[in-house]
Amino acid sequence: MTSLGIPSARSSGQGLESAPGGARSDARRRGLPAAFAFLLTFLVATTLLGLPYYLLPAVQRVRHPWHPWFKPSGLVGQSAGIAAFLLFAFLWLYPLRKRLRWKALGPVPRWLDYHIAAGLLVPLVGAVHSGWHFGGMIGLGYGAMLVVSISGVAGKYVYGRIPRSNNGIELTLAQIEARRGEIIDRLVYISGMERAALEQALSPPPASTLPRGRLATVIRMIGDDLLRRRRARQLCRQWRRHLGEQAAPSRKALRDCVALARREMALEQQARLLDATRRVFQFWHAAHLPVAITAFAAVLLHVAVVVYLGATWFW
Ligand code: HEM
Ligand code: HEM
Repeated sequence: MTSLGIPSARSSGQGLESAPGGARSDARRRGLPAAFAFLLTFLVATTLLGLPYYLLPAVQRVRHPWHPWFKPSGLVGQSAGIAAFLLFAFLWLYPLRKRLRWKALGPVPRWLDYHIAAGLLVPLVGAVHSGWHFGGMIGLGYGAMLVVSISGVAGKYVYGRIPRSNNGIELTLAQIEARRGEIIDRLVYISGMERAALEQALSPPPASTLPRGRLATVIRMIGDDLLRRRRARQLCRQWRRHLGEQAAPSRKALRDCVALARREMALEQQARLLDATRRVFQFWHAAHLPVAITAFAAVLLHVAVVVYLGATWFW
């Protein structure tokens, strides 16, 4: 009773977190990585182009013919400074959007995607602005910004391990169980396997004790990720054999099955660690925010000083 021709879980959206909005939202989702890649390439190209200048010690830079362009108050340098400031200010719209709970502003997860893209780009834009030289108080402010950006990557990793609905709200254990049930139903339908056999194939090895402490929790999360990857590969081989006895499975059907299985296993692992993961995330939040505020204060002060002193090409 295999039904390999049915629409994929992803396209039907059944049981999976697919953002609402259909094709338009897909286009938006593709637009962000494309814009990110474009800006990243542009910044790397500018840095490579300016390398003969950036590699010089500060005293020799002032005699370089490119100094009027690449110095922090130059045309290239300061345009990057303004872009960095705008991006930095934009980052604060995400916490604002989260607290406003105003649906017309669009789904929170999409705002987080933009927040992440801007947060990854801002240190590079700031570095092009400063001519890759980080002195004085604002040098420390830049350091704080870099720490927030790098810690954001860790925060995103933990954030992604708390199951959420399409609008970013955390799921309860009961909702996670319901979602797992939906996925298993769907897998039974697609693969044609008996439910009990399928559940056994998906179930993790006997549950060990829960990790104690934040570090142990993060180590367990990474271990779970690796375990899931291994089990997904095993399942893929198993299904190829199983489905192959009835009809050669299409690559797409197999891919859909494995994606659903991975999602189910992830939910099971995440449900098990839910409380510990929440504690790690709260700790991350508590550390992330003060450093972000410090960086913001340093940038505001820096901009106020340079504008007041008139050290800009537009003022
Ligand atoms: C996120 C925003 C910004 C960051 C992280 C940033 C960071 C920096 C850094 C690290 C330096 C080099 C300091 C040194 O090596 O001595 C610098 C210099 C400078 N920045 Fe910014 N900046 C930002 C925004 C701006 C903006 C918006 C402006 C102008 C309106 C600006 C104007 C300047 C000027 C004029 C200098 C040269 C100061 C001097 O040579 O004493 N910056 N900035
Ligand atoms: C200089 C760069 C960045 C700044 C200033 C910044 C700032 C912030 C702020 C103020 C918050 C809200 C905290 C709160 O609601 O209490 C936040 C949340 C968050 N940021 Fe960033 N961030 C930066 C970069 C990044 C990057 C690069 C990533 C990921 C790669 C990231 C991922 C996150 C995540 C996952 C959250 C929590 C989302 C939530 O709880 O809903 N951030 N960030």
